[in-house]
Amino acid sequence: MIRLSVVRTDKEVEAIMAMSEKQIEALGFTEHSRRHAGIVSKWSGDVLRALGMPEKEVQLAEIAGYLHDVGNCINRMDHAQTGAILAYKILTRLGMEPEDAAEIMMAIGNHDEQYGSPVSNLSSALILADKADVHKSRVKKPIDNVYTANIHDRVNLAAERSYLSVDREGAVITLFIEIDTNICSVMDYFEIYFQRMKLCRRAAEFLKCRFSLVINGTALL
Ligand SMILES: [Fe+2]
Ligand SMILES: [Fe+2]
Repeated sequence: MIRLSVVRTDKEVEAIMAMSEKQIEALGFTEHSRRHAGIVSKWSGDVLRALGMPEKEVQLAEIAGYLHDVGNCINRMDHAQTGAILAYKILTRLGMEPEDAAEIMMAIGNHDEQYGSPVSNLSSALILADKADVHKSRVKKPIDNVYTANIHDRVNLAAERSYLSVDREGAVITLFIEIDTNICSVMDYFEIYFQRMKLCRRAAEFLKCRFSLVINGTALL
């Protein structure tokens, strides 16, 4: 079994991650770099571990989480599909069993809300982890006026903290978000995150859990 540390330090992975960062920065989008990759990797693994899934599945989820956005080095459009194929090629080259690499490929190809669906434990954990990462540090470009910034930047700038919590006994996966409502309203958040939250709900259901969303201490879902 290939470990995450081997994937993370692979030269090809490093070059592709650097190119993804370059493209996302040039497009002026929120951060999708190694910070995001690292967080999504950890949270994907944490979700499956908390649900008592086998250690191997947890490790595959960590690798899927780390590589899920590598398609951004090609083009932001369809990055889930291009990234899935890229990841499969890299992982089999590193010696991963084709069945395991294919599992990761399928999860990555389903992480984006446009075409994605929770079709496996891995893809469900990846969807939840990816959509949970909202944080002000993800806004990279200088913002002159936070109040007139675009809604994506505003929502991220307002996000002080976000994390997932898994209650295995109660079968509930909760996304907790703390936002500064001086910068963005809860409505703003919903405006851009509605599709993502619907996908999170389906992902939690695939894992036989209910999805709950708590913003600033209030349960909204
Ligand atoms: Fe993505
Ligand atoms: Fe992502």
